[in-house]
Amino acid sequence: MVHQLLTPSQEIRTDRLLLTALSPADIDDVHALFSDAGTWQHLPSGRHVARSSSVDMVQRKIGGRARHGLGSWTVRTASDHAFVGVGGVDMTVGGVWNLGYRLAPAAWGQGFASEIALAAVRAAAETACDVPVTGRVLTNNPASVAVLRRAGLSLVWQGPASVRTEPGVEGQVWADRALSDAQFAWLVANA
Ligand SMILES: CC(C)(COP(=O)(O)OP(=O)(O)OC[C@H]1O[C@@H](n2cnc3c(N)ncnc32)[C@H](O)[C@@H]1OP(=O)(O)O)[C@@H](O)C(=O)NCCC(=O)NCCS
Repeated sequence: MVHQLLTPSQEIRTDRLLLTALSPADIDDVHALFSDAGTWQHLPSGRHVARSSSVDMVQRKIGGRARHGLGSWTVRTASDHAFVGVGGVDMTVGGVWNLGYRLAPAAWGQGFASEIALAAVRAAAETACDVPVTGRVLTNNPASVAVLRRAGLSLVWQGPASVRTEPGVEGQVWADRALSDAQFAWLVANA
């Protein structure tokens, strides 16, 4: 069970993690993570090679938080503030929250992504409860699929991915509720 305490600084504390708004101060940690090929085994083309890719991403996420009141967090351990990764929900142009997570490999296998995902679903409901929480994943990423399921999302579509994948790999769309036709079409087009 995830216990959250919203402090005046907008930090969220779960059982084991400290979730804070992504900030420019996190760029070095974020780029180390997003340039690590180990975190892109399921989609090697997504790896950030140039530092500017990470800078752009952080700036986009900061802008999204300013517009929508919520965005991805920098995730650190509550005990010693060690960098764990990036995760949470971001508003999309498709009018749905996108649930995402990318953790440093040393942090895998401890239930951290599930802890982040549950906190994100709760935060999304508190921020805009009428907006579906959705996730997009490739079929070669069973750990990510397991996290979406544990967060309470259900599979609503599987088919050809919009990104180039290895043969036989498809995209999936997950959601926590029924979607409008426009939301569904946007998700499938961007799966
Ligand atoms: C996906 C990722 C965030 C998972 O992080 P994590 O903290 O290890 O995840 P958790 O420990 O919370 O849960 C992982 C779940 O996947 C399961 N799992 C892990 N590896 C698995 C595998 N190879 N096959 C099937 N299930 C697997 C675990 O058993 C667990 O399920 P359970 O809770 O039902 O037991 C992490 O692997 C990661 O950062 N990967 C690289 C980035 C990425 O793929 N992001 C998602 C893009 S859509």
